Amino acid sequence: MNLDPDPAHPVVAVTGAGQGIGRGLAHAFARAGMRVVVSDIRADAAEAVARELREAGAQALAQAADIGDAGDCAALADAAVRRFGRLDTMVCNAGLMQIRPLMELEASDWDRLLRVNVTGTFLSLQAAARRMRQQEPSAPGQPRGRIIAMASIAGRSGAGPIAGVIAPYRASKAAVISLVQSAAVALAPEITVNAICPGLVDTDMWKRMDRDWGALQGKAPGEIWRQRIEGIPMGRAQQPEDVAGLALYLASPAAAYMTGQSINIDGGLMMN
Ligand SMILES: NC(=O)c1ccc[n+]([C@@H]2O[C@H](COP(=O)([O-])OP(=O)(O)OC[C@H]3O[C@@H](n4cnc5c(N)ncnc54)[C@H](O)[C@@H]3O)[C@@H](O)[C@H]2O)c1
Repeated sequence: MNLDPDPAHPVVAVTGAGQGIGRGLAHAFARAGMRVVVSDIRADAAEAVARELREAGAQALAQAADIGDAGDCAALADAAVRRFGRLDTMVCNAGLMQIRPLMELEASDWDRLLRVNVTGTFLSLQAAARRMRQQEPSAPGQPRGRIIAMASIAGRSGAGPIAGVIAPYRASKAAVISLVQSAAVALAPEITVNAICPGLVDTDMWKRMDRDWGALQGKAPGEIWRQRIEGIPMGRAQQPEDVAGLALYLASPAAAYMTGQSINIDGGLMMN
């Protein structure tokens, strides 16, 4: 096993990479020459994406993990080290969303969503950090590792009328923003920890939101999505690739001095 850093081919693990934003990030990292551990709670989806990457010429490994399970998170970080010798960047991307009016919410709704979005982000972050602390920096003056969490503009203030039907989601993403700040302090200067706050990304998650929120308001499928897109200054829906540039930057040597930040990348929807 080669434990030396390979600056040309850093190792990245992405949770929730079986589809959507995580899959888009996995492809972007692979195109940039990184070795990728594709993880998802759905083993078949993770394997399918890892196969896509390998067919495109990248080094990729699939590792199933439920991020709400500490053992799965430890096994994920271990798998990266066992296969590729180290873990340079962990992207804690997996997350759940639910549309349900606040007064109809049950404790089980909160528990289910926060278990993944908050506890899962914490457990995957912690498992990665344990491994990263044991390895040498990728180059002199660089941190030993990078952690990138997927928050959301929904974790910021406001968010308009949708706020009343996504309370656990908004609370979970605000918690991720706070967790990133705590982890950045706790892990500095060895590991940088930052969050990405996307806007309206064209994935299955938003398709389900459009369907469920539209049903609550008596709107046809696609109507909510169209209305929301009209409000984006950049004039179009966000694609997973639009998130990738920021993730690549946060994983790069250029971002070695950035930590504890949560950065909006949303076509100008939210400016703070
Ligand atoms: N789509 C958007 O508009 C948007 C906006 C802001 C933030 N985000 C965030 O980006 C992340 C990815 O969103 P997406 O739109 O790609 O969602 P998605 O629903 O399309 O994909 C999520 C993936 O996570 C996996 N997953 C679910 N529970 C898991 C668990 N317990 N352990 C491991 N994997 C699990 C799913 O199997 C799926 O492959 C989420 O954290 C989401 O909250 C999405």
